[in-house]
Amino acid sequence: MITFKSLVAGYGRSGDILRGVDFTAPQSAVTCIVGPNGAGKSTVLKACSGLLRPRDGQVLIGDDDISHCSPAQILRRGVVQVPQHHGLFPSLSVRENVMLGAYVQRRERERNRRRYAELTDLFPLIAERADDRAASLSGGQRRIVEFARALMLSPRVVLLDEPTLGLDPKACHQLAEAVRTLHGSGVTVLMVEQNVRFGLTLADHAVVMEGGRVLHTGDAGALLADPDMAQLFFGAAPRHSQAS
Ligand SMILES: Nc1ncnc2c1ncn2[C@@H]1O[C@H](COP(=O)(O)OP(=O)(O)OP(=O)(O)O)[C@@H](O)[C@H]1O
Ligand SMILES: [Mg+2]
Repeated sequence: MITFKSLVAGYGRSGDILRGVDFTAPQSAVTCIVGPNGAGKSTVLKACSGLLRPRDGQVLIGDDDISHCSPAQILRRGVVQVPQHHGLFPSLSVRENVMLGAYVQRRERERNRRRYAELTDLFPLIAERADDRAASLSGGQRRIVEFARALMLSPRVVLLDEPTLGLDPKACHQLAEAVRTLHGSGVTVLMVEQNVRFGLTLADHAVVMEGGRVLHTGDAGALLADPDMAQLFFGAAPRHSQAS
C-alpha cells in the first residue's frame, strides 16, 4: 500500500506543484492517476520514487515513511519506476537490456538467472527475441522489454508513467496484458495515463488530479461510467451509454 499524506512538492526555487496531495494506492491493486496536462501526476510518481524530495507531508510504503529516503534507498525497498521517457540500449540485445535491470545486484548471478527465466515465462516475447538487438523491436515490444527490465529486481511496487505514450492499439493491448500479469503476481501498481479510457479500464482504483490537488478518488470502473467524468475527460457521455 502506498499512502500520500498532505504531500507538498515542487522543483528548485519555484512554487509548490503538489499542494497537499492525499490518497492511498491499495496493495496488490492497480491505481491509475488521471488529470489534465500539468496537474502534477508525474510529480507524484517522482515523489514516490525519490527523484523529488517532498517539501512537506509524507509518502509511506506500508508503514514505512520514505519521504526522506534517497532513490537508491527506495529502490532497495522494492519500489521501481518506469519513467515517461525511458529507452533501451538499441545496440544491446533484448536479454542484455533486461539483465541491466539487475545491475545493482549483479553479483547475485544465480538469483538474476532465475529471475530472468521467470520473466521469459511471464513475457514470451523476451524469450523469442532474446538475441535480437533492441533496435529491431516495435514501440510496443520495447515497452514490454522496459517493463521486464524494471521487474528484474522483483519489485513490490511498480510506478508507470504514461506507458501507452506513442503506442498503436496492438501495442497498447500487449501492454495491458503485461500490467495484468504484474497485477496477478501481487505487485502494487501506481500508473499515470493520458489515455483515460485505457487507464481506467485496466485499473481497480482511480485518482483524479488537477492543479496539484486530488479532486476525486474511487473505483475506476465507476469513474469511467460517471457521466460527469465522461464530460470532463471526453466532452461526451461514455461510449457504452451512447450506444444504449
Ligand atoms: N523538472 C521540472 N522543473 C520545473 N518544473 C517542472 C519540472 N517538471 C514538471 N514541472 C512543472 O510541474 C507541473 C506539473 O508537472 P507534471 O509533469 O507533474 O504534470 P503531469 O500531470 O504529469 O502532466 P503531463 O500530463 O503533461 O505529463 C507543470 O507545471 C510542469 O511545468
Ligand atoms: Mg506527466
